[in-house]
Amino acid sequence: MRPAVLATRATFPDIADRLREHFDVEDNSSDTVFSREELVRRLQGKQGVMSTGSERIDAALLDACPQLRAVCNVGVGYNNVDVDACTARRVLVTNTPDVLTETTADFGFALMMATARRITESEHFLRRGEWTKTGVHDMFVGSDIHGATLGILGMGRIGRAIARRAALGFGMRVIYHNRTRLPAAVETECRAAYVDKQSLLRQADHLMLVVPYSPSSHHAIGHAELALMKPGATLTHIARGGVVDDAALALALKERRIAAAGLDVFEGEPTVHADLLALPNVVLTPHIGSASVSTRRAMASLTIDNLIAALGCGPQAGKPPTPVNPAVLQAWR
Ligand code: 8YV
Repeated sequence: MRPAVLATRATFPDIADRLREHFDVEDNSSDTVFSREELVRRLQGKQGVMSTGSERIDAALLDACPQLRAVCNVGVGYNNVDVDACTARRVLVTNTPDVLTETTADFGFALMMATARRITESEHFLRRGEWTKTGVHDMFVGSDIHGATLGILGMGRIGRAIARRAALGFGMRVIYHNRTRLPAAVETECRAAYVDKQSLLRQADHLMLVVPYSPSSHHAIGHAELALMKPGATLTHIARGGVVDDAALALALKERRIAAAGLDVFEGEPTVHADLLALPNVVLTPHIGSASVSTRRAMASLTIDNLIAALGCGPQAGKPPTPVNPAVLQAWR
């Protein structure tokens, strides 16, 4: 009997067809997010799932779906999956690192520039028909990117790709803070200097958040941290909802304690804090950091490679390319 798998959200049809070569596939072409009950119901009898950040895969769900062997998540971040609970039940988890690094770094840079140079705010002004005279000396003046100090919180692959763009492309001074300091050779290669978190917050003209979400990074930026930042600073957030205390950020932006923010991720997304929606000095995008056609295709393709291999099919049978908990593969042997 062919294994059965569930794709929780819509994906590229030709990539889904590759799954069908090996499995009985239940898909979700309507692309609506399944309720918890619906997800559990649809996972009955499935050995694999192609999941996304929209689904919470935890111990209770695993216990309700005992046939599940592989959770293949579309995305480099997998905080929606309780990896320990999966490992304890010998369920393999995979993610999609590397293929989205450069695209997400491009996006982080674009969002930072749009924020610093007030691009969406000025576009809305223009569209409202308010541009009636030119040459006003302070019309939408923002802050420079070139020559400024970029502070990066979270120096993984994406953080390092942003550092390179900043230092080599825009002549920025780059400082970073990370749980673990990078080896000297890596710091040199991406032209970034390690500082403690307080120095990062105090010195950055532009602060970029790229840290993965975990209980230890919950509200890594809240009232106290925002209070340390320069009044003219911008904050760009492409990490995960929950890393920033959105209510605290909205207040700091409203009181102009920092100049502006560019936000791609939110606490409780797709709902966005009402105070953020009401502010002019914030650029808001709907979690599209990795959203280029080629990268989204590469992410879907890698997820499917993982799923096919995890369930013992295809050329990489038993050797999924990007396991999060490889110990499970050993345990299966
Ligand atoms: C994904 C992301 O679009 O990779 C990640 O961690 O946040 C995004 O690239 C998202 O996870 C889709 O599930």
